[in-house]
Amino acid sequence: MKRYNTIADMPPLAGKRVLVRAELNVPIKDGKAGDQYRIEMALPTLIELASRGAKVIVVAHLGRKPEDSLRPVYEALRTYLPNTHFVPDLVGDVAQEAIAALSDGGVLLLENLRSNPGEITNDAAFADALAHLADYYVDDAFGAAHRAHASIVGVPSRIPGFAGLLLDRELSELADGLTPHTPSLFILGGAKFDTKVPLLTAALARYDTICIGGALANDFMRAQGYVVGTSLVSEEASQAAEFMATGKLMIPTDVIVEGPDGVQVKQVAHISPQDRIVDIGPETITELGVRIAHAKTILWNGPLGYVEGGFTDGTQSVAQLIADAPGHSLIGGGDTVAAIRELGLADSFSFLSTGGGAMLEYLIDGTLPGVEALTTGPQA
Ligand code: 3PG
Repeated sequence: MKRYNTIADMPPLAGKRVLVRAELNVPIKDGKAGDQYRIEMALPTLIELASRGAKVIVVAHLGRKPEDSLRPVYEALRTYLPNTHFVPDLVGDVAQEAIAALSDGGVLLLENLRSNPGEITNDAAFADALAHLADYYVDDAFGAAHRAHASIVGVPSRIPGFAGLLLDRELSELADGLTPHTPSLFILGGAKFDTKVPLLTAALARYDTICIGGALANDFMRAQGYVVGTSLVSEEASQAAEFMATGKLMIPTDVIVEGPDGVQVKQVAHISPQDRIVDIGPETITELGVRIAHAKTILWNGPLGYVEGGFTDGTQSVAQLIADAPGHSLIGGGDTVAAIRELGLADSFSFLSTGGGAMLEYLIDGTLPGVEALTTGPQA
């Protein structure tokens, strides 16, 4: 892969318009930005470009509904960067006038990219319109770099593109996840077995042990012949038995269930048809703890229990075990990172990725559409 240029390679920026694709897709609760890790991680690039005299135009997406506004993100962003402006427009007259009025070193956030249907389809006219807003493009949105959208792949094929500080750092930190050191441990939570097949295949080739938690584990328990009651399972999980046969997978031996008798710890052999699995159990946490303590590389993505329902014990215990372990630890996925930050453990890990799906796709392919676009587009 040809190496991309970074913002260190940019020409003098005084008075130049720089379009920064940032990852600001943070949870919004009661009209306010929730966990602000992504916003905090976006700041160094914005500050660096502004200090070099650029007119910094920030574009980002929020959620999946076109009507979701980035205004709450702007309210959060300006607590860090008070000299930031916002317009509820993307490529129209209002946005263009605001850009024309932007001072050197000023920062302007435009409206949710997904308010324009051309973003997701990488529509040529929309990519043209975005590219016309600026002289240079900076991609700092690692968390969205797996999406071949207009702001990710369309713009850098039209104007010279550079990797921002965060994108560059994510790629170099996660390169360790591609070549882990033995004994290596991959902890994978979440759900949707069918979407995880390529990832599991790639992980099996690279990691010594893969520990499965979350709803994904239910599919493996079922493939082993255990009753999983009313737990969330995937329709299509026929390959689970094949993955188990590799001998590299660790699945829970005990779980927390919610059933007719309330919330209980149960051995997986004792789950009843009325039970719903909501978390990994204490015996499983202890066993995983032994592996965590010995692992040289630990990669973790996805909560291990039903955290949205308040079943956070397994995820929190594992976070603490990794925080106390000497191995190199790379963690990704919004819910997992938010849980770690809530515990005040963020500084105890080697790296917390801002990517969820992007981190997983990078681990499968070793690159991402957004990264490729930077290497093939016009150069400055
Ligand atoms: C994420 O939160 O993983 C990224 O922002 C991508 O969002 P998307 O899955 O809606 O494309």
